[in-house]
Amino acid sequence: MTSEFKPETDSQDLTEKPVSHATTTGMTGGGFYNANSAPQWLATEHVLSWLDEAVAGIPLSGDGAIAMADFGCSEGKNSVAVLARVVEHVLPRTDKPVQTIHSDLPTNDFSALFKILRPKGRSVFGSERVFSAVVGGSMYDQLLPDNSLHLAMTFNAIGFLSRRPVSTLPGYIFPNGPSSTRANGFVSDEDRNRFAEQAKADVASFLSSRARELVAGGKLLVQVFGSVDDTRTCDGIYDLLNDAVLEFVESGEISREVYGAYYQPVYMRHLEELTAVVAEVSDGASPLFSIDRSQAYEIEVPFNRQYQTDGDRARYAKDYVNFFRAFTEAVLRNALPDTPDRADLVNRVYERAGELLVRSPDKYPFRYAAIAMLLTRNR
Ligand SMILES: C[S@@+](CC[C@H](N)C(=O)[O-])C[C@H]1O[C@@H](n2cnc3c(N)ncnc32)[C@H](O)[C@@H]1O
Repeated sequence: MTSEFKPETDSQDLTEKPVSHATTTGMTGGGFYNANSAPQWLATEHVLSWLDEAVAGIPLSGDGAIAMADFGCSEGKNSVAVLARVVEHVLPRTDKPVQTIHSDLPTNDFSALFKILRPKGRSVFGSERVFSAVVGGSMYDQLLPDNSLHLAMTFNAIGFLSRRPVSTLPGYIFPNGPSSTRANGFVSDEDRNRFAEQAKADVASFLSSRARELVAGGKLLVQVFGSVDDTRTCDGIYDLLNDAVLEFVESGEISREVYGAYYQPVYMRHLEELTAVVAEVSDGASPLFSIDRSQAYEIEVPFNRQYQTDGDRARYAKDYVNFFRAFTEAVLRNALPDTPDRADLVNRVYERAGELLVRSPDKYPFRYAAIAMLLTRNR
């Protein structure tokens, strides 16, 4: 099982710390996130028709290029696929140049994205009128000039908090707490509320920053994993990671103190927790955005479907663990003491998670719920 859960490259600087207004250094790089993000693509694809409509509604007047930005683009496979669809709808509407902007944290591994954007010296978007740029920075800050953007979007990213609202979370590794079926830990109501407040403040920062960048009438699509009724995108995956980490706590390889301070700084929102913030972000007199539409939904997870078809537990465990390794590894690694065997310990945690899943797949059912809203920048 050793190599199955291991990224094939170590091109990332493993010693980096998160930048300001970020709590992760990014996804596992070297192509690993791109290879293990099919569920995120399906969650994104679900709302792509909203972008088609948004493009039909954006103002294309003014000087300069028509600019469209994706915040939290990671290694770029999904980001380029989204922008390809948008570009296809924008080009027939204007003779102007079009710019795609792909943004993520400075510590993100952008190398695959740079390679995808201009294969053979031409734009991946298939037109000489399309130019692309990559911008490093926290999406909770303004990253682009005032009134320079026509369409902004973010997918599966705004759940990552800008700061850690509590210094320890002693009973579990995830703010929303364990699944009700597994119940392998606890998070106090007080702590949970601190995360909910932070998540709210983050949406407000994100909206305020985008409000400055967007032209009047510009559109903003915010999509993210979350909670829909009783379905929470944290259930299963974090129960499994928590169980795996606790085995190392019990063996003494991870101290109780390190476990208490370690958590994944991500929050699963309900749709209302996203949309309620919109009315609160104002210029003092009126809201900066209005809501065109919003939705809570669930997508079918590809590795679940595959497992139902072939019953291949080893394959299921590999796909399942690699999926959540891609977005949890950086934070876990940074939570562990910087010892010579830290990388090996991280590998063994994910290997152990794979073994636990092979042994008891029914303990860790995973479903992917998501929420989304499409906004217009008020004039
Ligand atoms: C799960 S990935 C989503 C990638 C892509 N949008 C997709 O849907 O496949 C989340 C991304 O959000 C980025 N991220 C987390 N915190 C961020 C922040 N404060 N500012 C910008 N990006 C951030 C991570 O680096 C990561 O690339």
